[in-house]
Amino acid sequence: MDVKDIGKTISKITSENEIFTDKSRLDPLAPETTNIIGREKEAETLLRYLVGHTKGQVIPLISVYGRSGAGKSTLVRFILDNTPEITYCFANLRKAKTIFGAVNIILGELGEQQVKSAQGLNVAIDRIRNAICATKKSNLFVLVLDEFDVIFYDKRNNPSDFVYKLVELHSELKRSGHKISIITISNNVIAEYAIDDRVKSRIGTSEVFFTPYKKHEVLEILKSRAKLAFKKKINPDVLARCADLSSIEHGDARRAIDLLRVAAEIASAEKKEITTKHVDSASERLQRDRIVDAISSLSYHSKAACMVLAVKTYGLEQDWHTTATLYERYKQLLEKKISPLTYRRFSEILKDLENAGIVESKTGSRGRHGYNSEFMISVNPQTVGNAIDPKWWEEYVVKVKNNIPSNVVKPKKNDVFYELYEAASKMYEDYW
Ligand SMILES: Nc1ncnc2c1ncn2[C@@H]1O[C@H](COP(=O)(O)OP(=O)(O)OP(=O)(O)O)[C@@H](O)[C@H]1O
Ligand SMILES: [Mg+2]
Repeated sequence: MDVKDIGKTISKITSENEIFTDKSRLDPLAPETTNIIGREKEAETLLRYLVGHTKGQVIPLISVYGRSGAGKSTLVRFILDNTPEITYCFANLRKAKTIFGAVNIILGELGEQQVKSAQGLNVAIDRIRNAICATKKSNLFVLVLDEFDVIFYDKRNNPSDFVYKLVELHSELKRSGHKISIITISNNVIAEYAIDDRVKSRIGTSEVFFTPYKKHEVLEILKSRAKLAFKKKINPDVLARCADLSSIEHGDARRAIDLLRVAAEIASAEKKEITTKHVDSASERLQRDRIVDAISSLSYHSKAACMVLAVKTYGLEQDWHTTATLYERYKQLLEKKISPLTYRRFSEILKDLENAGIVESKTGSRGRHGYNSEFMISVNPQTVGNAIDPKWWEEYVVKVKNNIPSNVVKPKKNDVFYELYEAASKMYEDYW
């Protein structure tokens, strides 16, 4: 590569960006700050909780909840930015792995010094309190804790205790004349997480639920973005396709906007107008990226569990698998020097994978054997195999499967080949 190549690459990128007037309108990290579509009801509920402070009513904790891409983070920020007499601090806890991680993110956002876990939670809470005391007393201080679900995955510490301490802040600060409300944003209502009853009764029931968007609402959001982001008018079929694909499970505005952006990038690299085909390719690419991302952060054994499911699903062309059969195959699959986890730990791993959105589970009855969990991989097994170990997947899974003739007709019971056929099928099944 020499200097000329840099110039060439820049002009290539510039020409690809030609179709946009303002690409930031499709940027997931640049949330909408002016042009919110709908959500009047949610905005009113939230505002009712917040403006009461001018009449002396301060709500300790407001739980904002709903599915991903429902506009929670965007709306909360928009409202706080535009409500007078509110000071706020917005902490996104997504990257926190523990309660201490979360506390340090909050301290960072407040401009305070961070704490080491040995110093204990109380030191951290003291610092949060001091930072809030330094703000204007007449204003309501709102501490927004986005992606709050994270703290409930910290199994070593006590999330319930942490929530209790946060709510206690409210009463302590009240004594010194400060007003604080905490807004937690999560996928489920906070009362549904593992919180002690004593804490639950203190946090009250101030909740704002974001219903998933309907398809036509997602379409409205897309139309408004497309108008601002592109030079030319986008074919309505393209927007409709993005809305369709992002509403299969639940209306997800983020997914819809991502689809439109990636479709536009693919089309402009091909120097073509965006079509619904580009949206379909975008959907595949996004799914692949999402799986690769989710898998790369997993532990060795979780990866092995994913691999087993992928192998069985692909090899046997069968969706559901019991924990017991998965566990057997998992033990064989491990490298020799690694000892397997216990059956119990292995089932917990499968449950964790369900939380990560990679597998689904159901509980089936086994008659007198009681109940049995079954698992299904909810993403493309090929993508999973390639994300974990592409060479192994190609050699021991894809090649094996491709070498098995698929057009053999099952012989009748009295046929001479019947037994051979049965034995071969058994061997084939055992392989997977
Ligand atoms: N009503 C809306 N009007 C305009 N844009 C919206 C609206 N709702 C969502 N969006 C856009 O959709 C994207 C996703 O929204 P947001 O990040 O607020 O979702 P969320 O509910 O916080 O999701 P998650 O639970 O995954 O964090 C953002 O780019 C946001 O700007
Ligand atoms: Mg959010």
